[in-house]
Formats: sequence, structure tokens, C-alpha cells
Amino acid sequence: MRTTTLGSEGPGVGVIGLGCMGMTFSYDMETPRDEATSIAVIHQALDLGMTLIDTADVYGPHTNEELVGRALAGGQRDRAVVATKVGIVRDSVETADPSGSAGDRALDGRPEYIRASIDGSLRRLGTDHVDLYQLHRVDPQVPLEESWGAMAQTVAAGKARYIGLSEVTADEIKRAQAVHPVTSVQSELSLWTRDALTAVLPYCQEQGIAFLPFSPLGRGFLTGRFSSVDDLPQDDFRRALPRFQRDALQANLAIAGRVRDIAEQAGATPAQVALAWLLAQGPHVVPIPGTKTPKYLADNAGAADVELSHAQLAELDALPAPQGARY
Ligand SMILES: NC(=O)c1ccc[n+]([C@@H]2O[C@H](COP(=O)([O-])OP(=O)(O)OC[C@H]3O[C@@H](n4cnc5c(N)ncnc54)[C@H](OP(=O)(O)O)[C@@H]3O)[C@@H](O)[C@H]2O)c1
Repeated sequence: MRTTTLGSEGPGVGVIGLGCMGMTFSYDMETPRDEATSIAVIHQALDLGMTLIDTADVYGPHTNEELVGRALAGGQRDRAVVATKVGIVRDSVETADPSGSAGDRALDGRPEYIRASIDGSLRRLGTDHVDLYQLHRVDPQVPLEESWGAMAQTVAAGKARYIGLSEVTADEIKRAQAVHPVTSVQSELSLWTRDALTAVLPYCQEQGIAFLPFSPLGRGFLTGRFSSVDDLPQDDFRRALPRFQRDALQANLAIAGRVRDIAEQAGATPAQVALAWLLAQGPHVVPIPGTKTPKYLADNAGAADVELSHAQLAELDALPAPQGARY
């Protein structure tokens, strides 16, 4: 796979990474988990050059990092650029969004919490350092400079090589930069969630900061997999999201339909078009599509070779806004 770097100073990575969240968390929770297949998918990603492997301590909680740790045991660790996150506390957020917006959920950005948490992540991941340690959310009750100072201490202690932010404003990035360099920003960006294009992505590009779009396939919707809310398992987290509600989802099918049309023209799949559009947004944009399915992984890897024409990109730029907020 083509490679890039995590911003101007960070490590080399394949231009498309792998998000591991759905392997143990958030989606399809009633389906029996097939750990062997998930581990095979992580190995397949490394074989294909999708080296950025993204997880978080809150996914599970903890089971996702443990799974990634088992996948990286036995000589795989050095092939991966391991990225994890800290700062969302799962225990008190049973009724809130388990993967995203700060909303009513519990955040913990206290320096002592961050310093203690990385040791648990390293133990679960079976490694003595992570390549990228990300602050999952800014805790409104803790000055960002203090949380970021603790993130910087994990670098000084040799426990993290680089540190990144998630779901932040350009202003918050600037405040963090005054304390320690910001290697990456991970926020939602996809054909149906474009807020980051206004200020955050341009600022990252100007500053040589990598941008890691999460949910780059619109949580699977942009691939055309779901034509009704009934296609989602009963306890799937997406059932709670505004865009997946019955009427909104019906209206949003027009977006997935246009993506499918362009995919047919381009000789690609809808997932590949969604990812190729993201790659076209800049040289240090590294989407992290999530999958636990070998054939989807291969499909997503293929997006690195899809070249969309100017006309196709323009048509994708002009897609209508979706119905329903993202959270
Ligand atoms: N920083 C944050 O706050 C935050 C929030 C959310 C997510 N994330 C990160 O971003 C990663 C990706 O986001 P996401 O998992 O929410 O959404 P996503 O990547 O947009 O979509 C994942 C869904 O798409 C399906 N899928 C993947 N590739 C496909 C393909 N080629 N064809 C058809 N369906 C396909 C997956 O199916 P299967 O699972 O059935 O294979 C899964 O249901 C996560 O794993 C996590 O690491 C971060």
C-alpha cells in the first residue's frame, strides 16, 4: 500500500489504517464475537500495509486493547503503528453514546488519571510503548493544558512515541501545541459528516498534523449495506443515532445511492469511493475504517489505488447534507 507519514514529524503508515472498535464494542453486539477472525483481520491489515491499528481503552472497556494485544503477540508488534486512546470513562456512561460525542458521558482528563491509564493500556496491548497515544476527548472540567501536559509526560517516560487529540476545535489544537507538539487529530469525517473541512482539517494541514477520519464509511451506511433500520441488529448502537432512525435513514438512502452510482462509474465499490474521497482531501489524511470481516478489509485496502476524476470528486463534494445529526 502507498504510505504517508503521521504529519510532518510522525512515523510512516499505510495511507489507510484499521479501526478495531467494532471487533468488541458498539456494533452488532448480539452477534457472537469471533476473535479468531478479528485477529486474522488485523494480520491481514498488516500484510496489506494498513499499519495504523486504532483502538481505545474504553472499547469494551479494555477487551479491544486485549484483543489487539493478542493479535500483536508472537512477533507482529513491530509491524504495527499502535494507536490507543484515554479519557472516556465507560462505567458511568451506560446510557450514553459508547463511541462518540462527549454529551452526557463521563470524561476524565485529570493528569493523574492519564498517567495511570497508559500503564493499563501497555499491559493489555502487551507492549512497552504505544506509537500514538490519543486524548479521546477534552474534559471540560480539566484545563486542556493540564491533560496535554500529562500526555507529554507519557512521551518523556518512553511509554508513548507521539501524542494526538480527538474531536477538538482548531483553537484547542493551538492550546495543546503551546505545551507539546500535536502529531494527529482524530475526528469524524466522511461523505456525510464534513464539519472538519471548515477549520480543523485546514489547520492540521497548515501545521503538518495528521488527520485521522473516524467512521469514514458513515458507520457502514455509505457502503450501501443498510436499506432499513431493520437491517441492524437489535442492540446495535447505530439504532440510537438520529441518522439511522426510520425516516431519516430512508431519506439518507439517496446519498448512499449516489455513492453507489459513482462507484459503478469508477469501477470501484462504494466503500472504496468513500475512502478515496477522504484520501483526496490531503496527503496526511489517514482514514481508519472499522471492520471485522476479511472481505471488507481487502475492499478497503483497495481504496488506496482508486483514482477519482475531478468530476467525480466534484459530484461527491456536492452531495446533499444528511437528515439527522451525527449523534
Ligand atoms: N475517536 C473517536 O471518538 C472515535 C469514534 C468512533 C470510531 N472511532 C474509530 O474509528 C474506527 C472506524 O469507525 P467506525 O467503525 O465507527 O465506522 P466505519 O469505519 O465508518 O464503519 C464500520 C462499519 O462498516 C462496515 N464495513 C467496513 N468496511 C466495509 C466494506 N468495505 N463494505 C461494507 N461494509 C463495511 C463494518 O462492518 P463489519 O464490522 O461487520 O465488518 C462496520 O459495520 C473505529 O473502529 C474506531 O477505531 C473513533
